[in-house]
Amino acid sequence: MISRRKFSALLGASLVSQTYSSCNATERGLVGNKVVSTWNNQKANKVAMEQLVRGPQYLLDAIEKGINYVEADPNDTSVGYGGRPDREGFVTLDACIMDKDGRAGSVTYLEHYMHAISVARKVMEETPHVILSGDGAAQFASEMGFVQKDLMTEESRSAYYKWLEKAEYQPKINVERHDTIGMLALNTDGDLSGGCSTSGLAYKMPGRVGDSPIIGAGLYVDNRYGAAVATGLGELVLRQLSSFLVVELMRSGQSPQKACEEAIFRIVESTDVSEAQVGLIAMNRSGKVGGYSIHPGFNYAITDDKSSLLKEAPSYIN
Ligand code: GLY
Repeated sequence: MISRRKFSALLGASLVSQTYSSCNATERGLVGNKVVSTWNNQKANKVAMEQLVRGPQYLLDAIEKGINYVEADPNDTSVGYGGRPDREGFVTLDACIMDKDGRAGSVTYLEHYMHAISVARKVMEETPHVILSGDGAAQFASEMGFVQKDLMTEESRSAYYKWLEKAEYQPKINVERHDTIGMLALNTDGDLSGGCSTSGLAYKMPGRVGDSPIIGAGLYVDNRYGAAVATGLGELVLRQLSSFLVVELMRSGQSPQKACEEAIFRIVESTDVSEAQVGLIAMNRSGKVGGYSIHPGFNYAITDDKSSLLKEAPSYIN
């Protein structure tokens, strides 16, 4: 039988939760829906917002569908379909997703499947694991019903053949002003989730895995404090676990902007960055957003219920 004390406690809790949920988002100090993504991905943000406005429970759908949009774009040469291959001509994708409850899923070195972020979500939701890699990730994608596709386009194939003429490996800063799509979303309950997806560095060594599928490097979400995502040269981000660092700095009280700056300083003071770009973006539970990069040229898209804008990130080197 339930004790009187336990009953009062339960009643109290239920009243609190009723009062909480009967307030609207503004009364609870919440900011509404917001999506932030690396580079000029306002269209992807719009796709994500279409999910968010359906209700707070569509937070992960927002991340997945928003990133799917970029993965399917043949003109984005560093994500999904049309992404540049490795130096042997194979397109291999990295992606990860993390939700408000701290769950995470990731795929590395995934071949033949365009929507790496969707496979990563399935890893999170359908397996006891966090990361599936290579052939195992592809086998899992097939088992989950994803359909194979040749991820090379006519354009990426001819760019690859042209590259083979000299076969010089030289990662470029701000490759045509896009790289990894990293996306963070906030819903009307004040909950955060994030994801990122990439084909990695153009003409990378076979087997190379970047920062994007590594939780804490390419992406980190701690729903109590904030979320962060990275783009740029993954090796630099991997060495510093930059996204985790940004979230930890927010946990210690720094703003998203200051946290991104501090995490970029850590990279800059540890290595030669003259030829390397990294961009970081972050958002906290209040919807405050920050972004910072090593070199100029990094921008990010911010979309909320009222407006959408592209913001040029300040940078360490000017
Ligand atoms: N940030 C993407 C990569 O280095 O693979």
